[in-house]
Amino acid sequence: LLLKLKVEYKQITGQDYKAGCPPPENLPVPDNGPSAEDATEEDEVNPWSVTTTNAKGVDYDKLILRFGSSKIEKELVDRIEKVSGQKPHRFLRRGIFFSHRDMHQVLDAYEKHKSFYLYTGRGPSSEAMHVGHLIPFIFTKWLQDVFDIPLVIQLTDDEKYLWKDLSVEECHRFAVENAKDIIACGFDINKTFIFSDLDYMGSSPQFYRNVVKVQKHVTFNQVKGIFGFTDSDCIGKISFPAIQAAPSFSNSFPHIFGERKDIQCLIPCAIDQDPYFRMTRDVAPRIGYPKPALLHSTFFPALQGAQTKMSASDANSSIFLTDSAKQIKNKINKHAFSGGKDTVEEHRQFGGNAEVDVSFMYLTFFLEDDEQLEKIRQDYTSGALLTGELKKILIETLQPMIATHQERRKQVTEELVKQFMTPRPLNFNF
Ligand SMILES: *[C@@H]1O[C@H](CO)[C@@H](O)[C@H](O)[C@H]1NC(C)=O
Ligand SMILES: *[C@@H]1O[C@H](CO)[C@@H](O)[C@H](O)[C@H]1NC(C)=O
Repeated sequence: LLLKLKVEYKQITGQDYKAGCPPPENLPVPDNGPSAEDATEEDEVNPWSVTTTNAKGVDYDKLILRFGSSKIEKELVDRIEKVSGQKPHRFLRRGIFFSHRDMHQVLDAYEKHKSFYLYTGRGPSSEAMHVGHLIPFIFTKWLQDVFDIPLVIQLTDDEKYLWKDLSVEECHRFAVENAKDIIACGFDINKTFIFSDLDYMGSSPQFYRNVVKVQKHVTFNQVKGIFGFTDSDCIGKISFPAIQAAPSFSNSFPHIFGERKDIQCLIPCAIDQDPYFRMTRDVAPRIGYPKPALLHSTFFPALQGAQTKMSASDANSSIFLTDSAKQIKNKINKHAFSGGKDTVEEHRQFGGNAEVDVSFMYLTFFLEDDEQLEKIRQDYTSGALLTGELKKILIETLQPMIATHQERRKQVTEELVKQFMTPRPLNFNF
């Protein structure tokens, strides 16, 4: 109950609950961007919280309107296929990456042999990563492979220190632990630089110069509007968005790009991170840099249903990358929200609802075969496939996937992590 009240407190006030600190007098109206008036009342989407009352999940078409981004239409997917010469990743085929900013421009330039680099990241709030955390990394690895381009991965351990009740040392340790899971996704060491903010900020004058440039061009009023900060937030939080903005500019990485400041950046991320990059895109031209382009993904639903995203702080809502085959099976059988009917007879007669069924949603993320997925959807909807059978397919999909991840993570040595996290030149032909 206390946890639930804390979440509610944060939703209403926009800040973490602290014992003995009264809430601010002027409660901020949650504001997620330029046209927040059009927002559906039930969907809350910001970097710290995602909730909706709709069992099918957030209304992503409305979110595109609200955030002012563009839908990834079939035409764009076809174009990515043509330009890369590869079958589009299932996340593109199935609309899991559903929204973008300036992706056509990135492809126009790429066709004219003007390449780009990738930037993604993670907030290391604990040692435990769950399967949902892998989504941006699986997709970014695919982009790196098909376009053959460099990648920077920011671990915002500084952010977690500012937002959570953790020590600086803990946050840094989580960053290094998370880097192992990220490396286990198979990134090319010759094309990938992973950095902890706590390490890199202090060692890179060029990075810090860009942070300061962004800080000078964003007012407190603007970040209040974008992120819902209040007068009682610490000044570290208020200036943090500049640190998440800086990797969007190529000269933040002189060991990779030298003094070049004109290299286009493409950011694959979940759409809740968009506020940071709306701000970045607003600032970029004013400080002489290209605007970063974006590819936005949907959220990975909690086991209990698509009303919230999977959260590492609720063990029952998450399948962790450290879970055993047995734990995966138990969690899915016990907690995965089902769109099935109460009895087998009813289910056979009326069929299940795949649109709200969490096991089916997870299969859209992880089952590679389009035809098999469509057959499962049809059979579940008609009632031919029972909930238990659907869950079994998901269990048998996730168990080997997570076992393989665990095997690969075991191979990641401290030495390898150090190599990935050392500022150094990368191999690429621009
Ligand atoms: C990285 O580059 C080194 C030196 O050029 C090469 O030996 C190695 O095979 C490359 N690694 C990968 C994963 O391509
Ligand atoms: C998680 O699920 C288990 C088994 O159903 C239950 O005993 C436990 O109380 C749940 N924990 C939370 C935090 O809800």
